[in-house]
Amino acid sequence: MSEHTIQHPTEGQQPKTKMREMSRRQFLNYTLGGTGGFLIGIPLVWNLRFAIDPLLQAKSQSNFVKVAEVSEITSTPTRFKFQVEQVDGWYYSKPEMEAWIAKAPDGTIYALSPKCKHLGCVVSWAPEGHAPNEFYCPCHGARYTIDGKELAVASAPLDEYEVKLQDGFVYLGPIKANTRV
Ligand code: FES
Repeated sequence: MSEHTIQHPTEGQQPKTKMREMSRRQFLNYTLGGTGGFLIGIPLVWNLRFAIDPLLQAKSQSNFVKVAEVSEITSTPTRFKFQVEQVDGWYYSKPEMEAWIAKAPDGTIYALSPKCKHLGCVVSWAPEGHAPNEFYCPCHGARYTIDGKELAVASAPLDEYEVKLQDGFVYLGPIKANTRV
């Protein structure tokens, strides 16, 4: 009859096989944990970048838009329509805008907003049956000079667009307070 002897570790000693298992487990934990974290972390950081990116971008409303040829502009205000691209956070839009563009006696090209300063209706230039050489608002009868100065009903002049001339074209930028009156 054979005799199996089991060697018990003396106090303070760890079994050698136990030590090897622990080391292997720790190694796998570190390796898999690190790789997993890397694989999860990269897409997370990448997607987070796109998520917060619009917040870091300034609203893109300061761009100038080509609206007309300089040769089209006369001393009589002419109505032009154009579209602007607006990015506000995650929201993208392309609203249609309008401007009354004219050439002043000194040759300066300027552009007025058609939005009435009373309650926001759209003004027209010298519509039939109303004063010639004035802007008129059909909602409550506001009137403005050719430079946009208020004459009746409204309490402020028509706003102006920033204007840039380049290569024979008129570009319009952001709306600003009227500087002509
Ligand atoms: S909105 Fe133009 S007059 Fe009232």
